[in-house]
Amino acid sequence: MLLNDVLQATDNYLNSKTKTERKKIGQFFTSKETALFMANLSKCQKENIKVLDAGAGSGILSIALLEQLNNNDKIKSIEIDLYENDEQIVKLLEDNMQKAKLKIEKLQKYNIIKENFITKNKDNYNKIYDIVISNPPYKKIGKNDIESTIMENVVYGQPNMYFLFMAMAERLLKDDGELIFIVPRSWTSGTYFKKFREVFLNNVKLTNIHLFVSRDKVFNKENVLQETMILRALKTNKEPKDIIVTQSYSNDDFDNISTYNIDYSICVEKENERYVYLPLDSNDIKVLKTINGFNTKLKDIGLKLKTGLTVDFRNEEYLEKNASNNNVPLLSSIHFKDGIIKFPSNEDEAQYVRKDNRALLQKTTNYLLIKRFSSKEEKRRIQPAMFFKTDFEEYDFISTENHVNFIGSIDNKEIKKDLIYGLYGIYNSTLYDKYYRILNGSTQVNATEINNIPIPKENLIEEIGKKLQTKENITTEICDSILLEAISDE
Ligand SMILES: C[S@@+](CC[C@H](N)C(=O)[O-])C[C@H]1O[C@@H](n2cnc3c(N)ncnc32)[C@H](O)[C@@H]1O
Repeated sequence: MLLNDVLQATDNYLNSKTKTERKKIGQFFTSKETALFMANLSKCQKENIKVLDAGAGSGILSIALLEQLNNNDKIKSIEIDLYENDEQIVKLLEDNMQKAKLKIEKLQKYNIIKENFITKNKDNYNKIYDIVISNPPYKKIGKNDIESTIMENVVYGQPNMYFLFMAMAERLLKDDGELIFIVPRSWTSGTYFKKFREVFLNNVKLTNIHLFVSRDKVFNKENVLQETMILRALKTNKEPKDIIVTQSYSNDDFDNISTYNIDYSICVEKENERYVYLPLDSNDIKVLKTINGFNTKLKDIGLKLKTGLTVDFRNEEYLEKNASNNNVPLLSSIHFKDGIIKFPSNEDEAQYVRKDNRALLQKTTNYLLIKRFSSKEEKRRIQPAMFFKTDFEEYDFISTENHVNFIGSIDNKEIKKDLIYGLYGIYNSTLYDKYYRILNGSTQVNATEINNIPIPKENLIEEIGKKLQTKENITTEICDSILLEAISDE
């Protein structure tokens, strides 16, 4: 197998480099099993095929795909373009492609293009390729960098090379052509990727998604902690009935994959944020169906989740350790105790904010706070705690630390206690925690996502809140049983 030779040569190359050098150029190579899995996703049956590998590295993905296509009787000839702008690896790529030309008889021609894939195709709007396969560079770049300006139609906020590659690859794909990528899963949610999702999901339709259960086993050699996914998409307007979702433990056990089909409409949001939900089993699908079945969002009941106002390192001069007439409580994650804000905490931290910076203050009224960050070890992503003004009567104002979010009223009205309890009941439930995990692979809880998660009607949330107040404690188990009972009665 030619692929084995290529892998060996790549290993030798890698061993000659330092980790820092590799990281700088975003060079993480695909494993043999992943390359074979990705190559096998191709269903192309055309006689003459034009292929693109964007960011080809040593050619692992190309070789895996070419060997696969060569075994397909329907295919008569293949031409491949390989973009690679790292001069050092191009030599190895050339050696490998020369070997491929000798061994893969249907390979008519290969073109190694030693240029920047994005800038080279700046004005190229031709539909050229039948198949694009890629493990693109993962690299954050500036909004004003040349690649971002070329791809400005998909850029909002912080761009990353990987999704610019996806967008450019999609542009160069023929109608009905197929696109096979291995990428972080971050593009499936989050505001920064919204413009990209809109363009991408309008032009291609996902047919396959592969997820890795373990976070750090995808790129053995580099321990990349990014959650990674493989996707296959077709350039078509026609939505498939469903998406085939597969799952493996790591990047070397593709023999042990679980497979299931999910309705396209459950997986890919047609409007609004265009999220791509990534359910892992039939229970996750049930969670999605239940919550996406609600028609209300926070804004519909006059509420909004915002991020805490005080950024400790930026507002250091206003932070104080001891209470005085000149300062107010600064609520942060250290004050979350069993679902209630308990202030002050015993921790030796600045827990007060001086009153003289009005921008850091907010009215003392009822809020639901939600932590912005959880550690991987923590059981829950969504961790809420209730704050009631009656516990802080001596203060007209309080402040919130930037590592927490808070739900308040849009027009500064007081949120009823029942509603705060009800919101706590839903966000502290297993149902909502699972939903968030399906939506977002990271450990951060983002404001836009919470603001967009559907919730039950206001009166039902209040009912949940009333019931919760009759209970001795407000654990997730109690919240689960009240929420499930309330929504099953609906
Ligand atoms: C994540 S590696 C993948 C390599 C190879 N395709 C594989 O799967 O093993 C991404 C490759 O893209 C190349 N690259 C980075 N930026 C590029 C650009 N703007 N144009 C072309 N290639 C680029 C890097 O040098 C690197 O070899």
